[in-house]
Amino acid sequence: MVVHSSADQAVLTIVYVSAATHPMSEEGLAALLKQARENNASHGVTGVLLYHDGNFMQLLQGPADDVRNIYAAIQSDPRHHMVTPIVDETGLPREFADWAMACGQIDTRTWETLMVKLSPDGSALSDGSAASVLKSFWKAGA
Ligand SMILES: Cc1cc2nc3c(=O)[nH]c(=O)nc-3n(C[C@H](O)[C@H](O)[C@H](O)COP(=O)(O)O)c2cc1C
Repeated sequence: MVVHSSADQAVLTIVYVSAATHPMSEEGLAALLKQARENNASHGVTGVLLYHDGNFMQLLQGPADDVRNIYAAIQSDPRHHMVTPIVDETGLPREFADWAMACGQIDTRTWETLMVKLSPDGSALSDGSAASVLKSFWKAGA
């Protein structure tokens, strides 16, 4: 039996934070999400995008090449800057598998809780604590 390496198909998780170059209007955010959802869906990429007081936090998960390509496009997008990776990890479970890109606006306390929980090595995602915070607020805000 020939077993092909599945390394290139493994789920890659990238989480970053960034700052909007201009405050995002509801319309601006809606346009961004429409574009993101269409593109992500065609590449099997899922995740969540949070917006809080001029800052973005985004979780991207999917086939490594697709996530890296999309992340590269995101990094050079003039709508935001100071794109700072927090998690870059292979093999974590998909947290928002049904969402080409879920979205929510969150309050300051939730944002700060998330920032603390999202440790650079991804351990908060793998033990589920950051993921449960993410899920609870986007459901509440949906
Ligand atoms: C905060 C933020 C999040 C974004 N998230 C995504 C995303 O999840 N998927 C995506 O395809 N594009 C996303 N984009 C848009 C990309 O930066 C880019 O405009 C889009 O991929 C089209 O790239 P292209 O013009 O090179 O085809 C995001 C942009 C910003 C500012």
